[in-house]
Amino acid sequence: MDYFQISGGKRLRGTVEINGAKNAALPIMAATILCEGEVVLHNVPDLADVRTMEHLLNKLGVSTSHEAGGTVRLEVKDEMNCHADYDLVRRMRASICTMGPLLAKRRKAQVSMPGGCAIGDRPIDLHIAGLQALGADAELVSGDMVLKAKRLTGTELFLGGPFGSTVTGTANILMASVLAEGRTVIESAACEPEVIDLANFLNACGAQISGQGSPRITVEGVKELSGCEYTIIPDRIEAGTFIIAGAITNGEIRLKRCRLEHLLAVVDRLRQVGVNIEREGDEIVVSSSRRLEPTTITSQPYPGFPTDLQAQMTALLCLADGNSMVTEKIYPDRFMHVAELNRLGAKLRKEGPTVIVQGVKRLIGAPVMASDLRASAALLLAGLVAKGETQVNRVYHIDRGYEKIERKLRGLGADIERLNRPTEE
Ligand code: EPZ
Repeated sequence: MDYFQISGGKRLRGTVEINGAKNAALPIMAATILCEGEVVLHNVPDLADVRTMEHLLNKLGVSTSHEAGGTVRLEVKDEMNCHADYDLVRRMRASICTMGPLLAKRRKAQVSMPGGCAIGDRPIDLHIAGLQALGADAELVSGDMVLKAKRLTGTELFLGGPFGSTVTGTANILMASVLAEGRTVIESAACEPEVIDLANFLNACGAQISGQGSPRITVEGVKELSGCEYTIIPDRIEAGTFIIAGAITNGEIRLKRCRLEHLLAVVDRLRQVGVNIEREGDEIVVSSSRRLEPTTITSQPYPGFPTDLQAQMTALLCLADGNSMVTEKIYPDRFMHVAELNRLGAKLRKEGPTVIVQGVKRLIGAPVMASDLRASAALLLAGLVAKGETQVNRVYHIDRGYEKIERKLRGLGADIERLNRPTEE
């Protein structure tokens, strides 16, 4: 099993290119189930999750092929199979994004209910309620959610939940309503850039969607969608992770092909703690040269501070000059990184959905264990600045969402290696 060996203390310098967004590419790939004709996607990141989605789509009768530089060609060849099975869904929750397209185009979707998740409770009740509002019957059969509908009819529906809007829930309802009869209005829709990207992709295929990016999205149903050629937006979470890598090492880095406007809540906090961040066209320049200030962070739905950067920001605040508070409002249990960061000498104390971060002067290298995608990114960032050697184990978690991260970090001067340790039987 692969692990990262990091020798900490190097200040990062240089330029890094940001890839296409995982959380836009996955629902957009699933949406090709709706299309007649070929879809050509550009800027698709080369990630384990993208390969899992491709594998699932192949099983659902969609042919896929890759070209160098992040281009993927997809086309529906066979519409018989409507079953997204447990073996694939348990590997990647985003498989749930095939539910809306299958129901809308094939009038049936049988999708395994996603199981437990390291970051906390993640029900799909809002997805099901939204699809039922459009006219679907839903039934749980041996762990699979089976949805059927003779037709889908547009309606007004509220999609807000106990933690606010739902990103993939909005995606599923959007994809189901583009072929529904009449108008659908989604109230309390998610406003994430990835939802906007999906709506723009669907419009490029002939859908009639408006209001994406606001909590009220309107969809006029159409008879069919064609294929199209589309470029995926940059990954704001990958960009945020590298900005924090530059800040935590007191480095000076330039990020290419990214959008600062997708990260305003993050940039606001980082500037507040003393990091210099400038925009130059579609590039971001980051530098910091002193001990950072403490602050308070509360994760919220977009445009608030993203939960997917909470762990990385917590790692940064471990070294601030004072006490910080980090509150997780989306996944109240998303703190698997806390105990591991404390192994590196951090002083973190969890109290319900909040972590008190007592700033320390330095971290000391040690073996740590990754538990989920973003927690593993936080451990990697901490290893970059920790004195001595750090081993981050189970890096398969990080490969799900970051393309060749160790090579990119080495390109910025980090001393990091991907090594392999045979797994004990
Ligand atoms: C998306 O997950 C992202 N995944 C997640 O990123 C991200 O953490 C999350 O949005 C929040 O920003 C993808 O886009 C593939 P939600 P999603 O439905 O859609 C509750 C990463 O690291 N809820 O917006 O599954 C839910 O429990 C991943 O790349 C319900 O109660 O998240 C949570 O507390 C991790 N009922 C909140 O809403 C529902 O039916 C937000 O979840 C659905 C959600």
